[in-house]
Amino acid sequence: MLLSGCASPHGQPQKGSEILAPNEVLEFGTLYAENCAGCHGAEGRGSAAIALSDPVYLAIADDTVMRKVIANGVRGTSMPAFAQSAGGMLTDKQIDVITSGMRSRWSRQGTLAAANPPSYAATSAGNTGRGELAYKTYCEACHGSGGRGSAKGSAITDGSFLALVSDQGLRTVVITGRPELGAPDWRGDVSGKPMSDQEVTDVVAWLASRRVQNSGQPYAASNYAQH
Ligand code: HEC
Ligand code: HEC
Repeated sequence: MLLSGCASPHGQPQKGSEILAPNEVLEFGTLYAENCAGCHGAEGRGSAAIALSDPVYLAIADDTVMRKVIANGVRGTSMPAFAQSAGGMLTDKQIDVITSGMRSRWSRQGTLAAANPPSYAATSAGNTGRGELAYKTYCEACHGSGGRGSAKGSAITDGSFLALVSDQGLRTVVITGRPELGAPDWRGDVSGKPMSDQEVTDVVAWLASRRVQNSGQPYAASNYAQH
């Protein structure tokens, strides 16, 4: 104590007490709390936007996908672009710290061992007719007839909801659920009957087809899964 107290001349800041410039912060907890927690919840536990600490989410989304979304945002939704190259405030290094920090803190090895989950991104366009049938089988019990909502789940064909979510955002929630809100993942909609990759693709195509397309108004499309 004495040593450190006397080591620095009066009026000069002691070593370690410097205030970092925003672009020098490289500590995951600070970066996450300041940039992400407002929408994704403290410690990634979810809020208005999905729980990023959900091990199921981290098992289906790889680092390349997450890094790209964090850097470039999702057009037409409230997910901002954070990379300076995309008009944001974070350096590439800071985005790496966030991406690898999410992985190392929150993912759990073997979460989906033998579960054979649907792929993160759709591999085909999907069929709205089959999607409507899949909706009736897997979703209607909670989200109500035509997706208009029930006591067990909110309205998800609502124009104002669909206008602010991307197709990939819908797909992600259909696969991972919202465990923090009691929404099941793709295995739990109907007990003992996990959704197939094709059924996930089709139900998202059906939901997307419910979007009201206002001319002159941009709406969210699947504009970040194209990698
Ligand atoms: C203003 C609210 C907001 C903030 C702040 C925000 N996000 Fe998001 N984020 C969203 C929304 C909404 C989505 C879903 C977008 C969609 O519909 O695809 C999203 C999506 C994501 C996804 C992709 C999920 C998927 O479907 O694969 C990742 C990863 C992500 N955010 C990480 C972050 C990180 C990390 C931060 C902080 C650096 C952050 N977000 C800050 C609102 C936000
Ligand atoms: C056991 C009930 C249940 C089933 C079955 C279910 N959900 Fe949900 N879902 C929920 C709950 C609860 C939430 C979170 C709270 C809310 O938005 O109602 C939710 C949230 C969602 C959301 C996000 C809404 C938002 O505001 O962010 C979407 C999209 C969604 N579900 C789609 C589906 C689809 C598509 C299916 C069928 C493949 C499905 N759900 C099956 C209960 C269910």
